[in-house]
Amino acid sequence: MKVLVTGATGFVGKKICRKLILAGYQLVISTRSKKRTEKDFPYPAEIIEWDYANQDFDAKHLEGVDSVIHLMGESIASGRWTSDRKERLYKSRIESTNKIVKAIHQSPSVKSFLAASAVGYYPFSDQEGFDESAKPGDSFLANLCVDWEKASENLPSKVRRCVFRLGMVLGHGGAMEKLESLFSYGLTSPLGSGKQWMSWIAIEDLVDIFFKALTEESFHGVYNAVSPHPVRNKEFHKSLAKSFSRPLLPSTPSFILKTVLGEMSQVVLGSQKVLPKRLLEQGFSFRRRTLEECFQHLYPHGAFTKVVEKDLFLEGHDLSIFDFFQDEKNLDQLTPDFLNFKVLGKNTPEIQEGTEIYYRLKLNGIPFRWKTLIRRWEPPYLFVDTQESGPYQVWDHTHTFEATDRGVMVSDKVYWKLPIPFISLPIAGFKVRSDVKKIFAFRKQKMEELFGR
Ligand SMILES: NC(=O)c1ccc[n+]([C@@H]2O[C@H](COP(=O)([O-])OP(=O)(O)OC[C@H]3O[C@@H](n4cnc5c(N)ncnc54)[C@H](OP(=O)(O)O)[C@@H]3O)[C@@H](O)[C@H]2O)c1
Repeated sequence: MKVLVTGATGFVGKKICRKLILAGYQLVISTRSKKRTEKDFPYPAEIIEWDYANQDFDAKHLEGVDSVIHLMGESIASGRWTSDRKERLYKSRIESTNKIVKAIHQSPSVKSFLAASAVGYYPFSDQEGFDESAKPGDSFLANLCVDWEKASENLPSKVRRCVFRLGMVLGHGGAMEKLESLFSYGLTSPLGSGKQWMSWIAIEDLVDIFFKALTEESFHGVYNAVSPHPVRNKEFHKSLAKSFSRPLLPSTPSFILKTVLGEMSQVVLGSQKVLPKRLLEQGFSFRRRTLEECFQHLYPHGAFTKVVEKDLFLEGHDLSIFDFFQDEKNLDQLTPDFLNFKVLGKNTPEIQEGTEIYYRLKLNGIPFRWKTLIRRWEPPYLFVDTQESGPYQVWDHTHTFEATDRGVMVSDKVYWKLPIPFISLPIAGFKVRSDVKKIFAFRKQKMEELFGR
């Protein structure tokens, strides 16, 4: 099965592409910059450069494509809505949809079309809960969503169409990534009255929803892609403050937000209690039903923890790649010279759960001893090493290995936190972040050299 994904390089798109690759799909992705995407996109894909404003979508790119997942669009919440930005917000969604729909009309292979919309579709209301049958609002965002959805209504009748009205997506990326540092410093405050409803969804659930809609014919029409438990803004920030062990500050007055954000303030001040009626009717089971569960999963180490998530897909390999990691000495090869990294030994003959591994390394010229504990060892699928003593307050590294017919996905997820983070993060955070980035860039390059085909 072949799927075209637009917006594949974005927060949601990348996670959906990961799932598709693991499920054995072939990917075609469109982007504004082929060069950047070839460098950064971690999954095997045919990459198409598309300037939607000046070009039609060439139907030849849909040859053999079974489904289209259309996510692209100028970011809604990353700045004031100047008239230029409003035009980009609108055109990048509506014009691009019109052009893709036109191309689908010339492409007999396409059988389904899944697209993003947003809960901004609904009116602002403090009381009402909106299911999919509710009437739209009349704000800039509501009108944008109405036109965005309408643009895909005239697909060929044989094409199954699903449109998802997304709530705020919670994960390591998107809005939360931008705000985590503020929250870490205790700047967690309800916005405006704090009474406005927020409709949210965990990224894992959203990916599952798209995947189900792709694979199950029973999915069609419009769905609210939100958790069944929307919360009031004050509750959201209270829960966040609790996860970060920070006090909740008094509310930020609405007039400040309106002055700073202009019209965009409606995204944070507007109340929209949106319910996933159709998903529940179709038996969709949410992995993160409550906000507490979602934050516990996202921030297991509390405030000031940074997360690095990296995937590398090695074509033509299988899970035997795990063997390389059975010998801790191989770690030297995956670590850049500037760390002066050396494995010194371990306390069991073979690596197993509970093994301690000892290393030395240098950070910014300062020598450190490092001891990690293998806290999970599940060959050939997963292992987790966590710092027992060393330069970080937290270093917890999960390595996963997932096989497909085409190759193996090697993934790293690291939580790291500096000691005395309140002070060290503003002073050294930038340097450490850049070093961690270099470490993973080197690791990727080395793995490609060692295992590339
Ligand atoms: N994340 C949320 O909380 C949320 C909530 C409601 C709705 N949504 C909607 O869901 C979709 C995916 O969200 P996301 O969070 O993954 O978005 P994102 O991270 O901002 O990614 C969107 C992608 O669209 C492309 N893009 C950005 N600006 C563009 C422009 N001016 N013209 C054409 N393409 C542009 C970019 O791809 P290239 O750089 O490769 O071209 C980008 O990777 C979006 O349409 C968004 O509005 C998201």
